[in-house]
Amino acid sequence: MSAKLALTDLLPLPNSSLKIPRLGFGIYQSHSQTAVKSCLHALRTGYRHIDSAQFYGNEVEMGEAMRQSGLKRSEVFLATKILSAGGSPEATYKKCIESVDKVAGGREGGYVDLFLIHTPSGGPAARKEMWQALERLVDEGRAKSIGVSNFGVGHIQEMKQWAKIWPPQVNQIEVYFPLPPFQSPLPHAWLTHPQLHPWCQQRTTTAFCTSHNIIIEAYSPLVRNQKAHDQTLLSVSKAHGKSTAQVLVRYCLQKGWVPLPKSDTPSRIEENADVYGFELGKEEMDRLDRLDEGEAGAIVQAVKN
Ligand SMILES: NC(=O)c1ccc[n+]([C@@H]2O[C@H](COP(=O)([O-])OP(=O)(O)OC[C@H]3O[C@@H](n4cnc5c(N)ncnc54)[C@H](OP(=O)(O)O)[C@@H]3O)[C@@H](O)[C@H]2O)c1
Repeated sequence: MSAKLALTDLLPLPNSSLKIPRLGFGIYQSHSQTAVKSCLHALRTGYRHIDSAQFYGNEVEMGEAMRQSGLKRSEVFLATKILSAGGSPEATYKKCIESVDKVAGGREGGYVDLFLIHTPSGGPAARKEMWQALERLVDEGRAKSIGVSNFGVGHIQEMKQWAKIWPPQVNQIEVYFPLPPFQSPLPHAWLTHPQLHPWCQQRTTTAFCTSHNIIIEAYSPLVRNQKAHDQTLLSVSKAHGKSTAQVLVRYCLQKGWVPLPKSDTPSRIEENADVYGFELGKEEMDRLDRLDEGEAGAIVQAVKN
């Protein structure tokens, strides 16, 4: 991966002329006015991609921050996710439209840039119903692109039987570090989901996505700061005079993933985007790669392939 990375970088989405900003801003557990302030600070810092979800309860706040920022709608990439099917195609579609309306503040012709299925855990019928609702949003111009989250290879291949839009343009997974022993074993439901960071690299899933040009979004890219004491990470961070969080964001970018660091702390929002003045060498990337612990490395979920 080229070292010449910039905050303004975009990645092409498959089968589309659209591009996705390669650094995103996560807002899970960011609520009400704090969410507005954090999103606004992120946009002023230069982030142009925000990741919300129905489950997070902050789609309205994400849209509100975008409008307060003074940026044009077309300059910002706003993403959300549907958590569960509604029980019928129409009910599921309505759930999606409600999200679009929340993000758009009820404005006519509002849209989201990316709509994801949050999790495959509802089963095959729910996955199909949600995907078909998302395809309808694309037809109607209410979603510019659609994708999945926490999907393993089997889930993505299953979609081929009935999807009009395939492959999904994005798979958002955890690509991060291992659980400390006291958190083991993982709840079974978590094991059905993917994650992405040095301790949990989801190599089968990422290889499949890469070979199909599916954009890989890395959620929990900072491992929620749980690995700040890791000796390998610390040594890389000291070598560059950068924080462990900055090394982790940079690691994801150099892997070709789209990291979604979250923070409600203004200085950290800035720090996590200040990752373009240094480069991790091949040996450092290899050392971080060797931290992979497979499923055991997930703090949220590892995908099932
Ligand atoms: N699709 C899914 O199932 C799924 C699952 C999990 C996450 N996600 C997405 O991915 C985003 C990021 O994941 P995440 O929120 O789980 O975790 P994360 O981004 O890995 O870590 C966020 C935590 O790290 C802290 N932090 C942020 N910057 C820091 C820094 N520079 N130094 C030290 N600590 C720092 C934050 O605290 P403060 O806020 O107090 O600064 C917060 O507690 C989410 O917000 C969400 O958008 C998706």
